[in-house]
Amino acid sequence: MRKIVIAGNWKMNKTVAESVKLAADVVAAVKDIRQVVVAIAPTYLALAKVAEVVKGTNVKLAAQDVHWENQGAFTGKVSADMLQEIGVDFVIIGHSEQRTYFGETDETVNKKVRKVLSLGMGPIICIGETLAERQGGQLESVLTTQVNGAYAGLSADDARRTVVAYEPVWAIGTGVTASDDEAQQAHAFVRGLLAKLYGDSVAQSISIQYGGSMKPENAAGLLGQPDIDGGLIGGAALKADSFLGIITPGESAAQST
Ligand code: PGA
Repeated sequence: MRKIVIAGNWKMNKTVAESVKLAADVVAAVKDIRQVVVAIAPTYLALAKVAEVVKGTNVKLAAQDVHWENQGAFTGKVSADMLQEIGVDFVIIGHSEQRTYFGETDETVNKKVRKVLSLGMGPIICIGETLAERQGGQLESVLTTQVNGAYAGLSADDARRTVVAYEPVWAIGTGVTASDDEAQQAHAFVRGLLAKLYGDSVAQSISIQYGGSMKPENAAGLLGQPDIDGGLIGGAALKADSFLGIITPGESAAQST
């Protein structure tokens, strides 16, 4: 059965010292969590120090992005083997902020996904529609293009090692969350796309996270949906207690399946 994966995307927040402190707080908060896979994604700068804090605990380490090339003249970028060396487990790829502000495309998402998989790490592939796209009736076509683009050329074995984060752009950082039904419908649609590509058994094995203003108040409802397998959490992951307030209902949801 697929896992519930709850990841904190810290974005461009926290100095190194603050990151180490928050990581230690998260480690302490989730020490009794057994069913949910918990991950935290600090900035590149803090990754190595946070890696020391989470080593040997039940908290996994995630990076917020990666470059697809091995090394070389790519100022400002970090390669997958650099992440692997310090113990990164997951890499967030194709976040809507990357797509909106930094020119990420479905092609670059695909290159990054392949590179990360080739080094044994798990990509968290972010997809999601803008408000204009949803209101214009393009939800399904946008998700189809993003999923087909991200998974182009990936084998079924590779696909099994991916996580998808469905994040409606209009819900990210806005305080507006998709309703349980809206989220469930989109997740079921995405799972159907994966089934078309790889068959039902692979599609059933891939965790699909919800992201976009997920918080302790709405986590139980979202995580109770049959096709919602965790969350990618921004704002509410910046404090250990609110992050735990999302993980705890995830643990209950995992136990009841
Ligand atoms: P949010 O961010 O929880 O602050 O809406 C989610 C994300 O961007 O991954």
